[in-house]
Amino acid sequence: LNYRVPRTRKEIFETLVRGLQRLEYRGYDSAGIAVDGPNKTTSDINGNTICLIKKKGKVKALDEELYRKDTLDLDTQLCTHFGLAHTRWATHGEPSALNSHPHRSDKNNEFVVIHNGIITNYKELKEYLITKGYEFESETDTEVIPKLIKYVYDNRENDRITFSTLVERVVQQLEGAFALVFKSRHFPGEAVSTRLVYTQPHIRTQGLNKKNSHNRPDCSNSIQSVEDGSAVEYYFASDASAIIEHTNKVLYLEDDDIAVVRQGKLSIHRLNWQAGEDPVRAIQTLQMELQQIMKGNFDAFMQKEIFEQPESVVNTMRGRICFDNNKVVLGGLKDHLKEIKRCRRLIMIGCGTSFHAAVATRQILEELTELPVMVELASDFLDRSTPVFRDDVCFFISQSGETADTLMALRYCKDHGALTVGITNTVGSSICRETDCGVHINAGPEIGVASTKAYTSQFVALIMFSLMMSEDKLSLQKRRLEIISAFKVLPDLIKKVLSLDEKIKSIANELYQQRSLLVMGRGFNYATCLEGALKIKEITYMHSEGILAGELKHGPLALIDKNMPVIMIIMRDGCYTKCHNALQQVTARSGRPIILCCQDDPEMSKNAYRTIELPQTVDCLQGILSVIPLQLLSFHLAVLRGYDVDCPRNLAKSVTVE
Ligand code: G6P
Repeated sequence: LNYRVPRTRKEIFETLVRGLQRLEYRGYDSAGIAVDGPNKTTSDINGNTICLIKKKGKVKALDEELYRKDTLDLDTQLCTHFGLAHTRWATHGEPSALNSHPHRSDKNNEFVVIHNGIITNYKELKEYLITKGYEFESETDTEVIPKLIKYVYDNRENDRITFSTLVERVVQQLEGAFALVFKSRHFPGEAVSTRLVYTQPHIRTQGLNKKNSHNRPDCSNSIQSVEDGSAVEYYFASDASAIIEHTNKVLYLEDDDIAVVRQGKLSIHRLNWQAGEDPVRAIQTLQMELQQIMKGNFDAFMQKEIFEQPESVVNTMRGRICFDNNKVVLGGLKDHLKEIKRCRRLIMIGCGTSFHAAVATRQILEELTELPVMVELASDFLDRSTPVFRDDVCFFISQSGETADTLMALRYCKDHGALTVGITNTVGSSICRETDCGVHINAGPEIGVASTKAYTSQFVALIMFSLMMSEDKLSLQKRRLEIISAFKVLPDLIKKVLSLDEKIKSIANELYQQRSLLVMGRGFNYATCLEGALKIKEITYMHSEGILAGELKHGPLALIDKNMPVIMIIMRDGCYTKCHNALQQVTARSGRPIILCCQDDPEMSKNAYRTIELPQTVDCLQGILSVIPLQLLSFHLAVLRGYDVDCPRNLAKSVTVE
């Protein structure tokens, strides 16, 4: 919202579109914009109009559409102006212009709204509003919000009602998890935004509820309100990357906050606030640089992020490992270390790639902490209502820090009194804020939907944790030193693996027309199989499965013949002989494996269709090196198959719904 700073409509469009483009990775099946339209002097409502432009597809399609609208004079200067923009990733209703945001109250666009999250009681509200004569045009849950605000407005008791009071009345009727921004013709130049969680089920039989109680186990969205020094422009965003080019001063809204910008002033108050209760929200200064979120010389963000790994793992270790005295200190955990050491067990919880980081490090965590370690997919953990105790320590691993399933699991564990630890890449995210303590992995912004550098940084962070836990255990010192020394040279080894890119590309050339690809391994490299197969699925749409080599004879062997592409990971570690046996079983069925192995292992080249030779490191870090060829392979396969690497179909970077 710009206040008394003249901006042409073209500049306003450009600002909104650029913001959307930075957020595209969070969802991208449609996009929309609401801006002030031309003033109609004869208009019934304050002389203001709101123009809505929405388009299915990528932000680019919306951008092109904006310039097709000859009704909007692009050179008109607008003094105070508030524009809204949104990219949608469909949850209720197919991707289409009608289902995309902003949603509107009526054909005159009296109220328009953008929404992140979910409204769980939208059906009841919709039914109620239909009985009041409201006509719905989309299949979304969101559309009840603008309709409801118009209903409240049309039934207001007096004309002095404020925009924020209207919003408060509306959100008290909503259940779910949501972050909202409102714009209205009746309140030109005013913005109201809120983030809330309501999950209290209640039955609404007649009319609308007056709700007093709520709890907050389910919100996964955040809105930041950002104020530049001169306080003449305000930005509301669900991610700082959308607005970092304008300002690095950010205020994070909490659940139940209502933020209002009116007459150039930002105020924040609590829902159901009482006079004198205004919350104090500190302005934070973000360190993120714009070029950090740009693609650089790479064709895709994913590719850039793969090649950033020599630096991103250093950033994860920076200031935490002292190679002179072999000490590892994770500042965010040190005050809780005693409590963690006394715990009954460690439970590592995450989704997708973040879950794989837990699988990858479980063995070394067990070895160095001498504690039982459970690894859990957040959704399944909740489905089972897993018993959790006060003396459990629960880790929540999440790149975004916003994944709804992981966040729900966190709230579940908190309710059971466990100590909660966040391992995230996003400072200020919900998981960061709601855990008792944690570690920022500091991998830098990850934009490609398929996670790469966040995985290796999560891996490093979890191993650093196990090193910190074992510092005073004499019997483990030799092992600790071996790992710490391996960390020192890890960035160089990653560079060596990345130099295999051309070779991997040539292998991709041989594989890209296949329908299926199996990835097999065991021990410290089993997680690489799962993660490699996930990368392939996510961006190449090929069927791919990560198989524990120990399970080969219990089923997967039936798939093996000369046509089935198989990648085998056979490193010189405790599982070498067993992996070798698996290799024999594969070759005996005419399988033609591509083997990821250590350098100078002639035995492997003898049996392989192709080999990818990797530098050797300590067994528990080998997974960091072995996953990179599979990241590269999936990237090249996707390019060869003609797919958009950064925006795979049907997937979103940050899944903020259950
Ligand atoms: C989504 C993404 C995955 C990611 C998972 C967990 O499904 O597409 O790439 O691994 O969420 O995300 P998080 O941000 O919690 O690590």
